[in-house]
Amino acid sequence: MIPILDLQKQYEEIKQEVEKEVLAVLSSGRYILGENVKKLEKNFAEYIEVKNAIGLASGTDALHIALRALDIGPGDEVLTVSFTFIATVEAISYVGAKPVFADINPDTFNFDITELERKITPKTKAIIPVHLYGQPVDMDPIVEIAKKYNLYIIEDCAQSVGASYKGSKTGTFGDVGCFSFFPTKNLGAAGDGGIVTTNSDYIAERIISLRNHGSHTRYYHTEVGLNSRLDEIQAAVLNVKLPHIDRWNIRRKKAAYLYNELLREVKDIITPTEMDDTECVYHQYTVKVPQRDKIHEILKENGVMSMIYYPVPVHLQEAYRNLGLHEGYLPNTENITKNVLSLPIFPEITEEQQKKVANELIKAVNQVACLK
Ligand SMILES: Cc1ncc(COP(=O)(O)O)c(C=O)c1O
Repeated sequence: MIPILDLQKQYEEIKQEVEKEVLAVLSSGRYILGENVKKLEKNFAEYIEVKNAIGLASGTDALHIALRALDIGPGDEVLTVSFTFIATVEAISYVGAKPVFADINPDTFNFDITELERKITPKTKAIIPVHLYGQPVDMDPIVEIAKKYNLYIIEDCAQSVGASYKGSKTGTFGDVGCFSFFPTKNLGAAGDGGIVTTNSDYIAERIISLRNHGSHTRYYHTEVGLNSRLDEIQAAVLNVKLPHIDRWNIRRKKAAYLYNELLREVKDIITPTEMDDTECVYHQYTVKVPQRDKIHEILKENGVMSMIYYPVPVHLQEAYRNLGLHEGYLPNTENITKNVLSLPIFPEITEEQQKKVANELIKAVNQVACLK
């Protein structure tokens, strides 16, 4: 079976160093907010080219705490996409604000800008663009709209460590950038973890306090916060991995281009669109195919794992039934969720594996075409 990603293979490459660093944490007796977290925050900020980075317990917490730090809450609306992992939207719900969805451009999977502006009301406080699949959102028009209507921007960079737009990395365009270190991410920890980036010292200070029970001084609390600290073991693993990220991202991109080449001739397979002036990190390599579910099944039967990110848009999830939104509300989003299929991609994938994936996919597409 060709896996969708192979974490063990990556671990083999860095095993010695990771084990040395993790064991050093274990014997140090300092497990929370120590030197490893400090080092990661400094190096991550330098890598993204932003003033501050603050380690947190997860990407979901990063989004939640970012909204808290910007004082967004009940009565406010936050604009985002419905074609994302539910965490983007859950964060809005956690602070008591209302998620409002704009439809997407079916080629880039990101905001349809006209739709976005149409959905702004006097209650709108922030926009959350999601750099889905590692493909940077076209940020210029979003920054312009945010300025025009005086809105905050919180970037969901959970899938885009190292991706850039017009020469700047994702996580530098908004008031806050929110990253996830969930193990399957392109920079993954050995458990949960996340980080926020911001150029604002004020926002950074609020987040440092919010992650630690609303406290800067032990047992003195200026507001009700959370317990959301990145732990030392995760930071130690990430400190080993961070210097490799560019090389790993380049390998992902090379693999993506090989898939483009192998699948180019097949008209029923639509390969990803890359926008000009962007560096996509191919957290996922996602094609569009007809009869997606059937193809997904056939691939599995023939030894190729594929994944559907995401089969149901957030506005149609049972958890969001209370919003009263029905099929037809976001036509592009709803169509896309029926066609997308992500293929195996990871830095260590071999050309042989990719050729097998492409061959099986082409065979499956032809097979379903005959069944029509
Ligand atoms: C787009 C997106 N946003 C947010 C998250 C939440 O990150 P985490 O799993 O670290 O909480 C994820 C990943 O799971 C994600 O893919």
